[in-house]
Amino acid sequence: MDSFIDILPKVELHLHIEGTLEPETVFQLAQKNNVTLSHASVEDLRSAYQFENLQQFLDLYYQACAVLVTQDDFYQMTMAFLTRVHQDNLVHLELFVDPQSHTDRGVAYEVVINGIWQAMKEAQENWGMTSKIIVCVLRHLSPEMGMEMLDQTLEYLKQHPTAPIVGIGLDSSEKNRPPNLFQDIFAKARDHGLKAVSHAGEEGPPSYITESLDLLKVHRVDHGVRCLEDMDLVKRLSQLRMPLTVCPNSNIRLCVFDKMEDHTLKVLLEEHDLCVTINSDDPAYFGGYIGENYKNVANALKLSKEQLVKLAKNGIEASFLTEEEKGTLY
Ligand code: ADE
Ligand code: ZN
Repeated sequence: MDSFIDILPKVELHLHIEGTLEPETVFQLAQKNNVTLSHASVEDLRSAYQFENLQQFLDLYYQACAVLVTQDDFYQMTMAFLTRVHQDNLVHLELFVDPQSHTDRGVAYEVVINGIWQAMKEAQENWGMTSKIIVCVLRHLSPEMGMEMLDQTLEYLKQHPTAPIVGIGLDSSEKNRPPNLFQDIFAKARDHGLKAVSHAGEEGPPSYITESLDLLKVHRVDHGVRCLEDMDLVKRLSQLRMPLTVCPNSNIRLCVFDKMEDHTLKVLLEEHDLCVTINSDDPAYFGGYIGENYKNVANALKLSKEQLVKLAKNGIEASFLTEEEKGTLY
């Protein structure tokens, strides 16, 4: 089954580009940019990747973000990631970036996007891999700060009309930060033609998924696995054919499920006929890139080849590609 997964063309829709920074790169960039880290060595940092919840992970993730300073840093990070997932036969990617975790430290918005975009252009030229950017609002910060980030995005798009920014997302600490706090930002983003996605139902309750649908008017729900606590919501997600970007390794590493055998992905896919997709979230932290996520969940839940193809096709269907572009990938 692993070799079947290796050659299966894959799409990734839930990937935080800052979550691709491997500990070696964190140390290398920290040294180059004179950033002090709280861990003594690469091994020390890697051994700290044992999380009991989302917040423990985010504390380390934001700390590591501080090593990214120049446009070339963002380019190198993105290029290293794209090179890695090209080996997994990733054919299309819609990546998340958290501009606020960089602009808050004095890094200019365009430095972040220019660096990532440059690597994306090279991946398309070299391998035909297509990709898009979704800018995320950090929900632990104020809605006013999120609106500022959206305004920077709209200004950047005005200056760079061909930029691949296609959507707005909502991420970071979910508990006690309901989507309704951010509805004005999402309304404005939609008015400017951006697509909407939101992390919901990872650690937060199913009502955050409902709010994401009703108030943020999302096109996809990121994670969404806690929908099973509300059967009316499951029915609605199925009727809407609302995609869920599920991240198996992440869910185990952040203790959403105790072990992979307990993961509800197969139940969501088969019993409830939901548009489930497989993604890696923050692969440098959660023990694997897109291929490993497919393999781990396939082995633990004994997924058939047909089910794996269905999951991969769901990824194409749930993407923000045009119908014509999707047709070339199916
Ligand atoms: N930012 C990076 N990874 C995240 C996750 N899994 N959930 C929420 N915010 C994130
Ligand atoms: Zn995520």
